[in-house]
Amino acid sequence: MMGKRILLIVGGGIAAYKSLDLVRRLRERGFSVRVVLTEAGSQFVTPLSLASLSGQEVHQELFSLTAEARMGHIELSRDADLVVIAPATADLLAKAAHGHANDLASTLLLATDKRVLAAPSMNLRMWLHPATQRNVATLRGDGMLFVGPGDGAMACGEYGPGRMAEPLEIVAAVEAALAGDTTIPLPFAKPGPLAGLRVIVTSGPTHEPIDPVRYIANRSSGKQGHAIAQAAAAAGASVVLVSGPVTVPDPAGVNTIHVETARQMLEAVEASLPADIFIGAAAVADWRVGAALAEKLKKGASGPPTLGLVENPDILATVASHAQRPRLVVGFAAETEKVIDHAQAKLARKKCDLIVANDVSPATGVMGGDANTVHLVSKSGVETWPTLPKAEVAQRLVAQLAARMGEGGA
Ligand code: CTP
Repeated sequence: MMGKRILLIVGGGIAAYKSLDLVRRLRERGFSVRVVLTEAGSQFVTPLSLASLSGQEVHQELFSLTAEARMGHIELSRDADLVVIAPATADLLAKAAHGHANDLASTLLLATDKRVLAAPSMNLRMWLHPATQRNVATLRGDGMLFVGPGDGAMACGEYGPGRMAEPLEIVAAVEAALAGDTTIPLPFAKPGPLAGLRVIVTSGPTHEPIDPVRYIANRSSGKQGHAIAQAAAAAGASVVLVSGPVTVPDPAGVNTIHVETARQMLEAVEASLPADIFIGAAAVADWRVGAALAEKLKKGASGPPTLGLVENPDILATVASHAQRPRLVVGFAAETEKVIDHAQAKLARKKCDLIVANDVSPATGVMGGDANTVHLVSKSGVETWPTLPKAEVAQRLVAQLAARMGEGGA
């Protein structure tokens, strides 16, 4: 269960204090927990407590410009492996049963493609009311999972069903839910060839600081990596795109994480594992300045400075040898000579399943351009494609990867 992502919706009930403990218990077991706090929930627990315990920003508003810029509410609802509502109030269940979408929590429940586990918590009369029981029956029919409520003394002084399940019971229910398939297929939709698969793509250059105003970079535009992320999402995959600094827009339907340096890129990639497919399309800087300066370098009598370079971690090689290695690991090789020889060497050295090799000599216009001529290099041989728009290279590559996954691996 290590690395599984939980989206926890904290509703407005006195049991919300137990959700603080729930966050701790989930994190102890290696889950990452992102919290959505409803307006009513914030009357019982503070966003600060939840942010401190989850180690992540707490989401509260549907229309939040800053939050939407980083991660839209659709992505928020889909990036999780499981959505948990605790406490699930009578009001939240009623909204979910009727498909309301007038705040962040209800919108996420409607937009998610993952199973939802609810831990109801309310006064016993509210729980036993036919309206609530009808809503729960509807939600069960829709596939919602429930844990509790239990019998017990309630904060309101009455005794009976309505008490929220204890944090450890909820954790057990989370683990049981995750043991099955938690993706809800779209009704009537034709599933794409990568449906149900998780794909991580790196794209763009990295910027390695020299001092606060200068950096080392390369000419990568991110066009090819972004096109691949978009094509994978169009093929039904759930895609995380880890992008260096680029000017191309974030692809729609993709969870894009922005980073600057190679080390940040590696960190974001490892945090996004596990995945079924990894595609390293980024032009990661091979070196960084060993000791980047905190103050701007000044000209001086001692002449031009010498930059001591150290090697960056190799993201592709790290992922290919990772304990959570994706089934397919795909690298790129940007070469200016002996394209295929170098790509074959890279395939073996970095232990990947496939290398997409391209000639990036200035005359080709590949770096920053819109077309690409690639060779697919794998253990079974070399396949050379004609010069194609990058979007088409992306679609063909995704189709190849889907076929390889279908064959049961590399
Ligand atoms: N790559 C990576 N991390 C690095 C360097 C490269 O993940 N620190 C990945 C790139 O995303 C690409 C592949 O490795 O998928 C090939 O990168 P390239 O720079 O062409 O190869 P190098 O291993 O750096 O070899 P050389 O510089 O000798 O060509």
